[in-house]
Amino acid sequence: SDPDLVARAEAAKAALGDRVFVLGHHYQRDEVIQFADVTGDSFKLARDAAARPNAEFIVFCGVHFMAESADILTSTAQQVVLPDLAAGCSMADMARLRQVEDAWDAMADAGIQDAVVPVTYMNSSADIKAFCGRNGGVVCTSSNADVALEWAFDQRADVDGGAKILFLPDQHLGRNTAVLQMGIALDECVVWDPLQPGGGLTADELRKARMILWKGHCSVHGRFSEDVVDELRAKHPGINVLVHPECKHEVVLKADLVGSTEFIIKTIEAAEPGSVWAIGTELNLVKRLADAHPDKTIVFLDRNVCYCSTMNRIDLPHLVWALENLVAGTVVNQITVDPETEADALVALQRMLDLPG
Ligand code: 13P
Ligand code: SF4
Repeated sequence: SDPDLVARAEAAKAALGDRVFVLGHHYQRDEVIQFADVTGDSFKLARDAAARPNAEFIVFCGVHFMAESADILTSTAQQVVLPDLAAGCSMADMARLRQVEDAWDAMADAGIQDAVVPVTYMNSSADIKAFCGRNGGVVCTSSNADVALEWAFDQRADVDGGAKILFLPDQHLGRNTAVLQMGIALDECVVWDPLQPGGGLTADELRKARMILWKGHCSVHGRFSEDVVDELRAKHPGINVLVHPECKHEVVLKADLVGSTEFIIKTIEAAEPGSVWAIGTELNLVKRLADAHPDKTIVFLDRNVCYCSTMNRIDLPHLVWALENLVAGTVVNQITVDPETEADALVALQRMLDLPG
């Protein structure tokens, strides 16, 4: 990275001292990660943000929904900064509150709403988390989705026919967790398409389903294919395929291991020297793992270069700009969630933080 910008970032952080706490998601660029006080997956960062009550400013190097969650989990006095406001998430954008409320109404019309517990992936806007908080639901991340689903099924265990889950907004995480970890059959999962009237489902299909999966996906993880898994297995006999649960079900079925970014890192750290790995997650993390483990062969599970373009919007110039403004007394790009949404979203986030394990 540009030595002048590195020196400016160092100076600004030194000037701010403990007043600032910089969080970096594992998908961030190296040039940004070097200035993170803590790195982690979405779950770890949510907990870390909540555990810094003395930092006046939380600079979130990640995407918008993560900064919103940090604002919800920190005190009103603390200010959360997202160095580039254009760092959104296409998956989070696939579930709008209005669409989710329409789906909820359709579930009432089908006579199943009392049996449904809404569960939203962390990768969703604050108003979707608030919807879950208001309606007896919970937030989950890729590191605790199984525990969250278990909790959700328990909430309505007494209703006739058992509980159902409305899983937002990532159909792949929902399906992978339900089928591979909860023993739910693939044909008990249906997909609600918000762009079709009635979600594209009949009332009868809704009644029979146990998992109602929102039709959302991650544009980065959705690219990994079964073909490349086959290709790499042919090229490197004995290769281990390690993927994130946002990948398609068919890809996860072909993989050896599946887990959150934190799980992927721990797995590679514990791997035998000389072992060969194909990793299906965001490229900044895969490259960093390959650099940190020269004794292991680590390849990307895609033929093409494929970064998360919105994660990558946070670069060193934006970080320096945000930090220097804080030094000068101006809070730029502050992320604030309105108090009503915040109160309801906190209920769903707190339920997640209180889950066992
Ligand atoms: P985790 O941080 O939960 O592994 O999720 C990955 C992701 O896509 C974040 O945007
Ligand atoms: Fe969203 Fe996927 Fe990027 Fe994560 S990797 S921020 S889910 S688009």
